[in-house]
Amino acid sequence: MKIVSYSCKPYDKQALNHVFDSAWQSLYLDVPLNLDSIGCALGAEVVTVFVNDRLDAEVLTRLADGGTKLLALRCAGFNHVDLACAKSLGLSVVRVPDYSPYAVAEHTLGLMLALNRKLYRAYNRVREGNFSLNGMLGFDMHGKTIGIIGAGRIGRLVGLMLKAFGCRILVHDPYETQVCQTLGFEQVALETIWRESDVISLHCPLTDETRGLIQAQSIVQMKKGVMLINTGRGDLISTPDVIAALKSKQIGYLGLDVYEKEGALFFEDHSDEIILDDVFERLLTFPNVLVTGHQAYFTQEALSHIAETTRDNILAYQKKAPLLNRL
Ligand code: NAI
Repeated sequence: MKIVSYSCKPYDKQALNHVFDSAWQSLYLDVPLNLDSIGCALGAEVVTVFVNDRLDAEVLTRLADGGTKLLALRCAGFNHVDLACAKSLGLSVVRVPDYSPYAVAEHTLGLMLALNRKLYRAYNRVREGNFSLNGMLGFDMHGKTIGIIGAGRIGRLVGLMLKAFGCRILVHDPYETQVCQTLGFEQVALETIWRESDVISLHCPLTDETRGLIQAQSIVQMKKGVMLINTGRGDLISTPDVIAALKSKQIGYLGLDVYEKEGALFFEDHSDEIILDDVFERLLTFPNVLVTGHQAYFTQEALSHIAETTRDNILAYQKKAPLLNRL
């Protein structure tokens, strides 16, 4: 069976190669799946992909025409897949529903603490022999109100970690009501999150309902100087509106691991190029903005889990067993 894996960096290849059946004819490609690279998938019964691969109707149709039967996402989010089209083409789609909620939750805390205590500035200052504390003033997390949007695996962990800091945890999740009470979180409306939170952290999926959740009308309802953290998906935020709020100081801190146009930037080395995305470049000019390149998930444990679940998904397909992680 031929399996082509796109967007495979050396660390992905190593993890997949370690667990894939040696009888499989596996091809690992560093490039993303798009119309330029799709030719490599010709005759591949299984194609595996990651978060920024192109999976619209045109690409899916070409895959199906080329003989692909199973599309194995090596990620949890599937907002980039035209599922209705895949279904109509008879293409099964499976995913890795959770690889390490701990990895993402811990990175989220890392962004909050680094922004609050300006650790990224301290790193540079101290190396230059500048031990001045001017501009480094932080605040106690203890006693602060944290608004978590999306109380799934990651959001709940973030809440529990911050509860240990002595924070008050507000949660907004229209589909998850039971768990929050038992964990000691307060289940509230979005308006309460905006009004009362000192820190807002996004952990809901990207859907039609959540796209552009953070934009001018919601930002204006937030506390002046709020900290906003997004490790969910870039399109949850309108970046131009957030930039305007950073300029007016309505947003006091911004931590991003995802960005709406990250597909053109993230996971690649562009250090020798001129980056043409002016919105992204403007973000980087603020001293109170910290951006990481979709690395929240990136731990040894998560990579192993992604590889093992992808292998199990493919094995289930091969054995005609039920596809437990089917979308
Ligand atoms: P999950 O499915 O366990 O939890 C998502 C929660 O969001 C659910 O409880 C759901 O009810 C809730 N939700 C759905 N619609 C909502 C809405 N309109 N408002 C508020 N809540 C809503 O997912 P998990 O594992 O916690 O992941 C959350 C998100 O984190 C993923 O959808 C993905 O976009 C992102 N993610 C980011 C990674 C990174 O490396 N930066 C890695 C893995 C996931």
